[in-house]
Amino acid sequence: MLRTSLLAAARSPLARKAVERNPLTRSVVNRFVAGAHTPDAVTATRALVDSGRAVTIDYLGEDTTDVADATHTVDAYVTLLSALADQGLAAGADVSVKLSAVGQALPGEGHKIALENARLIAEAAKGAGATLTLDMEDHTTTDSTLDILGELRQDFPWVGAVIQAYLHRTLGDAHDLAVAGSRVRLCKGAYNEPASVAYQDKSEVDRNYIRCLRVLMAGDGYPMVASHDPRIIAIAGELGKGRDFEYQMLYGIRPQEQEIIARRGDTMRVYVPYGVQWYGYFMRRLAERPANLAFFLRAMTTR
Ligand code: FDA
Repeated sequence: MLRTSLLAAARSPLARKAVERNPLTRSVVNRFVAGAHTPDAVTATRALVDSGRAVTIDYLGEDTTDVADATHTVDAYVTLLSALADQGLAAGADVSVKLSAVGQALPGEGHKIALENARLIAEAAKGAGATLTLDMEDHTTTDSTLDILGELRQDFPWVGAVIQAYLHRTLGDAHDLAVAGSRVRLCKGAYNEPASVAYQDKSEVDRNYIRCLRVLMAGDGYPMVASHDPRIIAIAGELGKGRDFEYQMLYGIRPQEQEIIARRGDTMRVYVPYGVQWYGYFMRRLAERPANLAFFLRAMTTR
């Protein structure tokens, strides 16, 4: 119930204004977001790389309804990739892109605009020596996102995508994507989805995660295990013995565990969000864990 309300608020302009305008929100946001500008993302990347962790960087924004905003997002990624290259941080880095931030949600030509914009980012990533992963948003975008993935992979075979264990369709998608060279990030899923398309029960989502993970680990692609769940991390360690794969976690979440995994020699990639449009991302993090909400409410009521 609380999760549903927070996820509804994540898409409400009114709730957005109320949260964004509260000056006390900032301290809590800082725990999950690396900063507002390119140099902040570069600084966070430097610290993570120095501690043995890899990064995937997200310029925050989603549900863009304006072509100029979509172009601005592309420019932000191009600037970021060039800054990473200048600092010697681009090789091995990845950028995560939400297609709705580069035009997918625009009426009429949205799919085509998102494909063209994602292609520009892929070209910049190639030039810098980095990779690109397409984030997955709500289920109404899944087909479009996987189509764009297929188009991009013809020219940039290292472009990856995310699949969400809470969707009924995902086991099939995992089979389709477990092919040579295919980078696949498996997560549980962070949006408010109806029972017609998604498992509602947490234990069912977890079971489907493991089913999908088995398929990815048995396939020829490159699995990216995106979860903070200790049980899933342990199972991935067992299933992935003797093969290439990586763990992924979000910036600011279980940082000690991230360091432990990196120190034992496994690839640990951290998803680093930055930018001023942090609202939707932040609300999804609150929805995931009551303790985060309690932390937020405490910060709002105490000085
Ligand atoms: P779960 O939420 O069940 O948590 C398991 C345990 O992890 C908790 O008990 C707690 O210990 C810890 N934990 C989890 N969340 C925490 C938090 N917010 N704060 C503190 N501790 C926490 N989703 C999506 O729909 N599309 C996408 O493209 C992506 N991309 C993505 C990239 C990466 C790198 C990650 C790690 C995650 C995503 N997600 C995502 C989000 C994902 O779907 C999911 O919502 C979160 O990862 C939380 O799920 P867990 O697997 O961590 O398990």
